[in-house]
Amino acid sequence: MIQSLPRVTYSNIGVDFSPVHDFLDTLMPDFEATTLAQTWGTPFATGPARQVRSPIDPSISLGRFPDSTAEDVKAAVASARAGAKIWNVSSLEERLAFATRWKDVLADGKYRLGLAALYEVGKSRLEAIGEAEEAVDMLDYYPSELRKNNGYVRAMNQLVEHETATSVLRPYGVFAVVAPFNFSLALSIGMIAGALLGGNAVVFKPSPDCQLTGLLIAETLRKAGLPEGVFNIVLGGAEVGHTLTTDKSIDGVAFTGSHKTGMGIFRHMAVQPWIKPVVAEMGGKNPAYVTVNADLDRAAQGVMRSAFGLQGQKCSACSVVYVDNAVKDEFIKRCVAFAQTLSIGDPRQRSTFMGPLYGPATVERFDASVAQARAEGKVHFGGSHLDGKPENYVMPAIVEMSGPSNLTRDELFMPFVVVRGVDDLEAGLAEGNDVTYGLSAGIFTRDEEELRYFLENAQAGVLYANRASGATTGAWPGAQPFCGWKGTGVSGKGGLGAYFLPQFMREQSHTIM
Ligand code: ALA
Repeated sequence: MIQSLPRVTYSNIGVDFSPVHDFLDTLMPDFEATTLAQTWGTPFATGPARQVRSPIDPSISLGRFPDSTAEDVKAAVASARAGAKIWNVSSLEERLAFATRWKDVLADGKYRLGLAALYEVGKSRLEAIGEAEEAVDMLDYYPSELRKNNGYVRAMNQLVEHETATSVLRPYGVFAVVAPFNFSLALSIGMIAGALLGGNAVVFKPSPDCQLTGLLIAETLRKAGLPEGVFNIVLGGAEVGHTLTTDKSIDGVAFTGSHKTGMGIFRHMAVQPWIKPVVAEMGGKNPAYVTVNADLDRAAQGVMRSAFGLQGQKCSACSVVYVDNAVKDEFIKRCVAFAQTLSIGDPRQRSTFMGPLYGPATVERFDASVAQARAEGKVHFGGSHLDGKPENYVMPAIVEMSGPSNLTRDELFMPFVVVRGVDDLEAGLAEGNDVTYGLSAGIFTRDEEELRYFLENAQAGVLYANRASGATTGAWPGAQPFCGWKGTGVSGKGGLGAYFLPQFMREQSHTIM
C-alpha cells in the first residue's frame, strides 16, 4: 500500500497528495495508541527517565525516555569497539547487502517514521513524510556511490615490474553520530549510513527531544540485521554528547547542529591523542537575491516557502532577502499576499503548512526579534501569536530592515524573514556573503549575466535559481549535495552528494610484490 502512494519530496507543487492524506488519517489514531504509548528501553540508557511532550500540544505524551549515564556511554563505546572488529573488515558485498535490507525496512516503515517526526518536531504532514522519503532515498544513493566506486578501491600506477599498487579507503573504526532535532530522521539516517557504509561501528545520540525517532531508527537497524555491537544508541542532552565526543576511544565524529556546539567538538578533538575526523554541518544564514529581472510571483513563493516551511527551523531556511530597490515594494506586497494564504496550526490537519515552534527558547527569540524589528525597521506581516493556541504557535514574520544587523547576520532558526532593499545584485551579494555561514543561497532573475555573477560570487555550497518550491531549501539525495562552506561545514563536502562517504574512511596504500 505505502509504496503505491505518490512520493512526497520538499519540492512538489501542485501534486494531488490526497491519497497520502487519506492513508495518514487511517494511521494516526493507531500511531497515537501504540507507538506513542510504547515503553522504550535500551541497554545503554539506565539513568532516570524524562517525560517528553509534543510541541503540537503539551497534553500529547511522546513517552518517557531514560538518559544515559557516563558509564552507559562508556559501555556503548566499548560495545562499538567490539562490533568494529567485525564490521571494519566487512566486504563491499556485505555492506551493500545490509544497505538493501535497511532500505527495505525504512521503505516499509516510512509513514510511521514520518509520523514520529510530525509528533516530535511539529512538522507538517508533507514535511514529515518528505523527510522519511529523503531518508529512504539516502539508502539508494549512498550504496550506489559505494558500488560505483568499487568500495573505493582503486588500482594505481605500476612502478616496478611484478608489483601492484592499490589505493584503498578503509574505515577509521568507531564513529560517534550526534544528530539535531529538526531533521531527526533524515540527518540521523544520513550520518549513520555514511559511517556504517564506510565500515565503521557507530554510537548514535539523537537529539534529547527526538528520542522517539532515535529509538525507531534503532529498531529499523535491528530489523535490518547487523553484527552485534556495530550500532549502539545512547540517550541524553549536551552532557551525554560531550561525554561521547570526548571519549578517547572513538575515532571520529559526525555531527549536525549548532555552530557553537560543532566548534566545541573541534576544540575537544584537538586534545585527543591524534587528529580524528569531524564531519560537521553547523547551520546557515541563507540569503535570496531578487533582481529587477525576477519573476516576482515566483520569487515571493520561493522565499515564503523557504522561510516558513518547517517554521523556518531548517539550516537551509531563507532568512534574509536582498531585493533591488526598484522592485522592493512590489516584492514585499506579493510576499504578504502569499503569506496570507498559508495555513498555520495543528500539523495533524491536512491543510497545515506551518505548525508550532519547537521550544520556549525559539518563542523567546521570535518575540525579541519582532520587537527589535518594530523598533529599528518595519514589520510588514505577522509577528503575533495565534489566538486560542499555546504560545509556540505564531504568525510568521516578514520584516524590512534598513541596514545590516544581528537579524541579517545571525542564524535565527524561526519563521522570520528580513527584507533588505539594495541598489543592485553586487551590493546584495557583498552583504549576503558577509556572514559566518555558507550553506545555501538562491537568486530570482531571468538575466543570464546576473545568474552567472551569482553563481561565481555567492559564498555558499548549495545554490539555487528561480525555484518557486523553495528559494534556498529542498536539497535531495543524489540531486543537491548539501555542502556547507565557511562556518557551516568542515570540509566543503556535504551529505546527499558524491564526496560524503569518503569522509568516513581513510586512505591506505597497498603495494604488493
Ligand atoms: N534537505 C533539507 C533542505 O534542503 C535540509 O531543506
